[in-house]
Amino acid sequence: MSEFLDIAMRAARAAGSLLLEKQRVGFSVEKKGDVDLVTNADRESEALIRKIIFEKFPDHSFQAEEGTVSTQKSPYLWIVDPLDGTTNFAHSFPVWCVSIGLLQNGISIAGCVYNPNLDELFTAEWGEGAFLNGKKIAVSKATKLSEALLATGFPYDIRDSNKNNLTEFSAFAISAQAIRRAGSAALDLAYVACGRFDGYWEFKLRPWDIAAGVLLVAEAGGKITDWSGEKYDIDTGEVLSSNVLIHDEMLDVLKKVRGRYLTVGE
Ligand code: IPD
Ligand code: CA
Ligand code: CA
Repeated sequence: MSEFLDIAMRAARAAGSLLLEKQRVGFSVEKKGDVDLVTNADRESEALIRKIIFEKFPDHSFQAEEGTVSTQKSPYLWIVDPLDGTTNFAHSFPVWCVSIGLLQNGISIAGCVYNPNLDELFTAEWGEGAFLNGKKIAVSKATKLSEALLATGFPYDIRDSNKNNLTEFSAFAISAQAIRRAGSAALDLAYVACGRFDGYWEFKLRPWDIAAGVLLVAEAGGKITDWSGEKYDIDTGEVLSSNVLIHDEMLDVLKKVRGRYLTVGE
């Protein structure tokens, strides 16, 4: 294992323990928007991860959700979500994680997603496969959308924007076996990687939601594109990820509803 992944795993485990402790002793919640929360646990987790990564790699660049940006002249960029699933965390719904991805010249080379509630650590390095607690994982073998369990999420501007994923959600609800909206994009991708989910779509995501998860899916034999089947781009925030086998069927559904919007109250 590379020293990059080793540090990512150490940081994720340390942050996971901190977050579990916060669940036990209590934390404060603030609103970033109408439905977008942040807690002091998010911020403390980010500070701890930054400290662990910078102690080892002081010259690397770093970008994290709660504001830490350090742009240095380095080919390496760490992209960190210190707590993915903050709404779940705030409600003590134990589906949240820490996500740490590393890009080299814009290409994902290492990543890990850690869910301390289940002590599940998903890891991947470019060209080396994907693992759950050290055991190799692979995407599912479902061949039909009608037999597929899918995951998705909704953007924080769901109340204000007609591009809110409700049309797509309705279309998949009647074409897939079932859909789960569990509330953590990084875990959704990790679960596609290990075959618990057969496919996942979402948009308006940020780089820290997906930097680690997309590498997990790719290394587990899955596919990641945008909603048109084109090359996925970490900055567009539009992701379609699957076990490959149901990818075209998922693209067809997205194509069918493109440009059609369902707004709240209709
Ligand atoms: C959110 C979660 C959620 C997804 C949102 C994300 P946060 O991240 O991943 O599942 O639907 O788009 O912003 O705010 O909990 O870190
Ligand atoms: Ca997130
Ligand atoms: Ca977050």
